[in-house]
Amino acid sequence: MPTPPDTSKTLKLERYNTYLRKIHTTKLVNASSKLLFPATLLVALLLILFFTITYPPLSDNPHHRLHRHSLLSTSLFSVGGGAAWEKQVRRSSTPRRPNGFSVLVTGAAGFVGSHCSVALKKRGDGVLGLDNFNSYYDPSLKRARQNLLKKHQVFIVEGDLNDAPLLRKLFYVVPFTHVLHLAAQAGVRYAMQNPQSYISSNIAGFVNLLEIAKAANPQPAIVWASSSSVYGLNTENPFSEIDRTDKPASLYAATKKAGEEIAHTYNHIYGLSLTGLRFFTVYGPWGRPDMAYFFFTKDILQGKSIEIYKTHDQKEVARDFTYIDDVVKGCLGAVDTAEKSTGSGGEKKGKAQLRVYNLGNTSPVPVGRLVSILEGLLKTKAKKHVITMPRNGDVPFTHANVTLAHTDFGYKPTTDLPTGLSKFVKWYVGYYGIQPRATKETQPTNESG
Ligand SMILES: NC(=O)c1ccc[n+]([C@@H]2O[C@H](COP(=O)([O-])OP(=O)(O)OC[C@H]3O[C@@H](n4cnc5c(N)ncnc54)[C@H](O)[C@@H]3O)[C@@H](O)[C@H]2O)c1
Ligand SMILES: *[C@@H]1O[C@H](CO)[C@@H](O)[C@H](O)[C@H]1NC(C)=O
Repeated sequence: MPTPPDTSKTLKLERYNTYLRKIHTTKLVNASSKLLFPATLLVALLLILFFTITYPPLSDNPHHRLHRHSLLSTSLFSVGGGAAWEKQVRRSSTPRRPNGFSVLVTGAAGFVGSHCSVALKKRGDGVLGLDNFNSYYDPSLKRARQNLLKKHQVFIVEGDLNDAPLLRKLFYVVPFTHVLHLAAQAGVRYAMQNPQSYISSNIAGFVNLLEIAKAANPQPAIVWASSSSVYGLNTENPFSEIDRTDKPASLYAATKKAGEEIAHTYNHIYGLSLTGLRFFTVYGPWGRPDMAYFFFTKDILQGKSIEIYKTHDQKEVARDFTYIDDVVKGCLGAVDTAEKSTGSGGEKKGKAQLRVYNLGNTSPVPVGRLVSILEGLLKTKAKKHVITMPRNGDVPFTHANVTLAHTDFGYKPTTDLPTGLSKFVKWYVGYYGIQPRATKETQPTNESG
C-alpha cells in the first residue's frame, strides 16, 4: 500500500511558513513606523522651503487690488493659470536670435515703450512689457497698443513699478539682460493738479525698480528715460549734456533730475550700469493725446480754437520735435552699447558704466510753424488764439546737441517735422476713423456753419 502523504508534516511546514511571513510583515510595519516621523518632517520642511521661494515675502503695499492680482497671477498653483502666466512671461522674454537680449520694457503700453518693444522684438530680442494702464490719458489707446504688441508676441504684465513682489517674481522667472525703463508719470502741466503721481512713479517707482535690479543675479543693464526738461531755464543754446541742470521749471522736470541723481547713487554703490536718455518732445503715430501736436490736430478737426503760447518777452515758443522712429533708434543704440552691470546679488564688484545722452532732432521749430504744417495736412484752417504762456512748467525753448549720442552709437535723426507730422496725421485719421476732408467737400453739403 502506498503510504499516504504525511499530512501532519505538510501542515507543520505550512504553519511554519505562515509564521515566518507574519514575523516579516510585523518587522516591516515596525521599521516603517520608525521611519514615518522623520519622513513626514522632511516633507514638511521641503514644502515650507518651496513656498518661501515661490511666494516672496510681502511688503507693505498700499495697492491691495494690484497686490492680490500679482499674487494670484504669480502663484504656480493658481487656478487662473499661474503656470500659463509664467509660460507667457518666459515665451515673451526669450530671444529668437543668437546672443539676443532679454529686455524688460516698463511703460510698454505707452507711446515710446510700445514702439521700442516692437522694434526689439522684430530684430529677435526677447521683450516683456510692464504697465499699470493708468488713466492719465485715455486707457483705450494703451489697450490698442497692447493689442498691437500682442500681434508681435510681446506680452505686457499689468502691474505697478511700486509692486516689489511682482517685480521680484519677474526677475526670478526671467534673467533679464536689460531693462528699458520708460514707465513714468509724463506731462509737465498735470504736475500742478496731481503732484503725488510724479513722486510715486518717477521717484518711488524708479527706486523700487533699482532695488530689485541691484539684487538680481545677474544684474541687468538699465537704460531709462530722463527728459530734456531737466535743462529747465537753461539759456545755453543748443542744450549739451555738460550744461547745468539745476533749474527745473516743473515738478516733472525735478523728478527726472532726481532720477539722474538716484541713478548715480545706484551705479556708485551697487555697480548697476545706467544710461539716462533726455528725450526732446517726441511725436508720431500712436502718440500721446496730452501733447500739443496731438490735441491741436483733434481741436483743428473739431473746429475748436487752439491756444498758442508766446514767451513773456513776446517771442515764439519753439520745440525740438523728435520723430518717434529716430528716438527708437536712439534707444536701441543705447541698449546695444550698454555695458554689463558689474555687481551681483546686491554687491558691487567693480566700476560700472554711467551715461546721459540727449536724443533730439537738433532743429527747433516755432509752435506757429507746427500749426501751419498741421493746417496744410488737415486741409483745415485753425482758429488760433495767441496768449502769453502761463507759468505752469513749460519752458520757452528747447534745442538738442546730439553730438555725444552720435559719437557713441551713431545717433542721427533723419525725419523732419513735415514728414513726421504727415505720418502722424495719416495714423490719426485712420485710428479715429475720420473721413478725409477732400471726400467731404465733394459730397453735396448740408452742413450748417
Ligand atoms: N514723449 C515725450 O515727448 C517725452 C519727452 C521726454 C521724456 N519722456 C519720457 O519718456 C518716457 C515714455 O514717455 P511716453 O511719451 O511714452 O509716455 P506714456 O505716458 O505714453 O508712457 C508711459 C507708460 O508708463 C505707464 N506707467 C506710468 N506710471 C507707471 C507705474 N507706476 N507703473 C507701471 N506703469 C506705469 C503708463 O501707463 C504709460 O503707458 C517717460 O518716462 C517720459 O517721462 C517722454
Ligand atoms: C555739443 O556737445 C558736445 C559733447 O557734449 C560738446 O563737446 C560740444 O561743445 C557741444 N557743441 C555745442 C555747439 O554746444
